[in-house]
Amino acid sequence: MGKVKQEGDVVDLILQQHTQIRQLFSQAEQAEGKKLAKIFSELALLLEVHEEAEEKVVHPVAKAIASDVAEARVREENEAKKVLKRLKDMGPDADGFGELFQQLKEAVDAHATHEERDEFPRLREQCDESELRDMAEKFAQFQALKGGQRRPM
Ligand SMILES: [Fe+2]
Ligand SMILES: [Fe+2]
Repeated sequence: MGKVKQEGDVVDLILQQHTQIRQLFSQAEQAEGKKLAKIFSELALLLEVHEEAEEKVVHPVAKAIASDVAEARVREENEAKKVLKRLKDMGPDADGFGELFQQLKEAVDAHATHEERDEFPRLREQCDESELRDMAEKFAQFQALKGGQRRPM
């Protein structure tokens, strides 16, 4: 498998994905039936590969800079994973899906905001440009691999 070419640094890449994630949450809120199921499975896959790539490529570097900040982010991700799993198990047609989905939306939004506000500025301060670009390539490479192996539910 060739290298995944990546424009910008790892923070640019992640910010784009945060936008995508927030958009999918909004679209899901306005959808129902088959459309909701489709958006939810796309969102679930994106969230999984996004958080996994952060855990692999970003948080370890952030941990070396400010361990409490990075550790708090990993805890938030673990919480979100549990809720996402519950949602996947119950499916979008189940009673209570909407309420739990709303809870996940708020948790993920707050989590992404914490990363944007507390974690990424430190990364940009402490890492040089080539390091951040290198991380972007690793991030994209990891996601390409994961995304290719997994299929939405
Ligand atoms: Fe995250
Ligand atoms: Fe993130």
